[in-house]
Amino acid sequence: MRVPIIAGNWKMNKTAAEAAAFVRELAPKLAPFTGIERVVCPPFIALPTTAEALAHSEIKVGAQNVSEHEKGAYTSQISAAMLEGLAEYVIIGHSECREYLGETDDVINRKIKAALAHGLKPIFAMGENLTVNEAGETLAFVGGQVRAGLEGITAEQMQSIVLAYEPIWAIGTGKSANAQFANEITGGIRGVIESLYSATIADDIRIQYGGSVKPANMAEYMSQEHIDGALVGGASLIVDDFVSLVQAAQETKGA
Ligand code: PGA
Repeated sequence: MRVPIIAGNWKMNKTAAEAAAFVRELAPKLAPFTGIERVVCPPFIALPTTAEALAHSEIKVGAQNVSEHEKGAYTSQISAAMLEGLAEYVIIGHSECREYLGETDDVINRKIKAALAHGLKPIFAMGENLTVNEAGETLAFVGGQVRAGLEGITAEQMQSIVLAYEPIWAIGTGKSANAQFANEITGGIRGVIESLYSATIADDIRIQYGGSVKPANMAEYMSQEHIDGALVGGASLIVDDFVSLVQAAQETKGA
């Protein structure tokens, strides 16, 4: 039984104080939904205040990125060691980091390894652009990202990884992917995991959908066989929307 996981990716939103105030309001409202794993991913600078505000809550904290390097002359970067104790999860491979920070599959693979070496759980994101999608090559493309990102990752380490399928054309655009299509691709990703590891690992790994997930479409995504949660940007910045997303997940797939 895969425990659904919903993660709010706040991107470059909320100061340290705003993030703490937000989770203080959110935590009691999410407390009843114990069948769903709930994660918030604030900007680095807001991790300490957010983690402190959630110290007595079941809501978990994630970072939005991590350096592939252990330490050294990497101005502006944050290492996995620095995140220890502040974050349990870390988003790696988000399309905005691939695009704006030039992160390649190879870099992403090293980041996943760096995170795992420090006990962080990667939320490994992948997705195709509109050209690839319209050419009908989504699964081949995303499958390639999966294989490259997981190069050298052991079967045991796979237990700490969450995958997130996020079509780039659906992120922040309000153009969410058709739920059946998202299920077909997440199912295909599960097939790639089976070919790389085993049927058991493929069956156990959680795969989120992301891209314009809102309270109005959450139940439809969560009703799909292969979708185990969501990676949410815009709607996760609004307390009541976040609660509605978790509630929809609880009603469809919660234990
Ligand atoms: P969105 O962002 O929900 O605002 O589309 C999703 C994401 O980038 O993780």
